[in-house]
Amino acid sequence: MSRRVILAIAALLAGAGLASAQQAGVALTDQQKIGQRLATQYCGVCHFHIQINSTVTYGPMLSKANFDNGRDAELKGVIANGGPNMPGFKYLFEPAEIDAIVDFLKTVNPPGLTASAK
Ligand code: HEC
Repeated sequence: MSRRVILAIAALLAGAGLASAQQAGVALTDQQKIGQRLATQYCGVCHFHIQINSTVTYGPMLSKANFDNGRDAELKGVIANGGPNMPGFKYLFEPAEIDAIVDFLKTVNPPGLTASAK
């Protein structure tokens, strides 16, 4: 199965549960909305709680806390190149799209996104 097919399946799985993932009271910029859409489609399956809050996530929960201590460049590198257990996205996304995802993630309060906004 090609990576695009796998990503498309992941997008379908993630899209179902995360329509209501936006945290209440956060007004997003247009750029952050693009990042939210991309993150919901492509990252949620591993990084967000897409079913029930008690399920574990395959990858670490993502929130603004990941970007503490000036880790922007390092983590954009992870998104582009992947990790030992994460696919890289540099052939799928433009650098501006990775910037948009990071801009969105920096609006997310720890511990991260869940399917049911609390
Ligand atoms: C197949 C599951 C999977 C998908 C899809 C995925 N990740 Fe990951 N991600 C991981 C895992 C697992 C790690 C932990 C490092 C490792 O083992 O590769 C990780 C690590 C990270 C980290 C580093 C966190 C830190 O603080 O060190 C960031 C940032 C990240 N992912 C962002 C993303 C973004 C953004 C997307 C969507 C564009 C995404 N990931 C899609 C599995 C995934």
